[in-house]
Amino acid sequence: MSVHAAQKRISAPDIRARKGGEPIVSLTSYHAHTAAIADKYVDFLLVGDSLGMVMHGFETTLPVPLELMIMHGRAVTRGARRALVVVDMPFGSYEESPAQAFRNAARVIKETECGAIKIEGGARMAETIQFLSQRGIPVMAHIGLTPQSINVFGGFKTQGRERAQWEAIENDARAVTEAGAFSVVLEAVAEPLAAKITKSIDIPTIGIGASAACDGQILVMEDMLGLSPKVARFVKEFGKVGQAIEGAIKLYADDVRTRKFPGAENTYEMKD
Ligand code: KIV
Repeated sequence: MSVHAAQKRISAPDIRARKGGEPIVSLTSYHAHTAAIADKYVDFLLVGDSLGMVMHGFETTLPVPLELMIMHGRAVTRGARRALVVVDMPFGSYEESPAQAFRNAARVIKETECGAIKIEGGARMAETIQFLSQRGIPVMAHIGLTPQSINVFGGFKTQGRERAQWEAIENDARAVTEAGAFSVVLEAVAEPLAAKITKSIDIPTIGIGASAACDGQILVMEDMLGLSPKVARFVKEFGKVGQAIEGAIKLYADDVRTRKFPGAENTYEMKD
């Protein structure tokens, strides 16, 4: 048995079973080394298509190709041994039909060895969620503000501030639950609605900008580390990694310029 297989990984059913229990901790991850660090503390890591904006400088998530998700997905499953790894299906890779979604999601699972995929959309994606779930692909749904529909929403805005918006979002939550999703991300959903949905469905809700009423939370790792140049108001920055990187690069540049650099007596052996 490989060392890999010896450690039990958290599965989609394990996350599903956490409904109403201890809060589920999750972060996005795009990179093997940070995945290995986060793995000790989180229940799942999401290889979010936000990597297009965070890692590759796109303005939105729309240009992200499936191949990029697979490449980063592989890095994260190599770095993390314990957490469930969920890979986002990018825009254009699943909306056309359940068959298209299955073909691409199966490729993601085979090539990354992740344990689940995530798709955006509520009632309109219910048929696809059912199709995938019945064919061995655990699906995390994503409702409320769905960034792949940014051109329809017209911007990043809180969903469900007006009572008139509630029914559609509640219907989405019910539809993805009935279709077999093992959990659902609620993004930018107003607190009273997030609380109502969390009470009314029997799969865990994972909030991002949707209050502590949810069963778990997710943040973009770079945002909570203090590495993103701009973050939404709801984001708490738990570190100042951007400043730490700049400070270290400045010290390095000073060392190079003042010729304070290790000599030939230093070898390529690794430090302890
Ligand atoms: O792509 C992403 O990072 C996401 C999270 C914001 C939930 O979908």
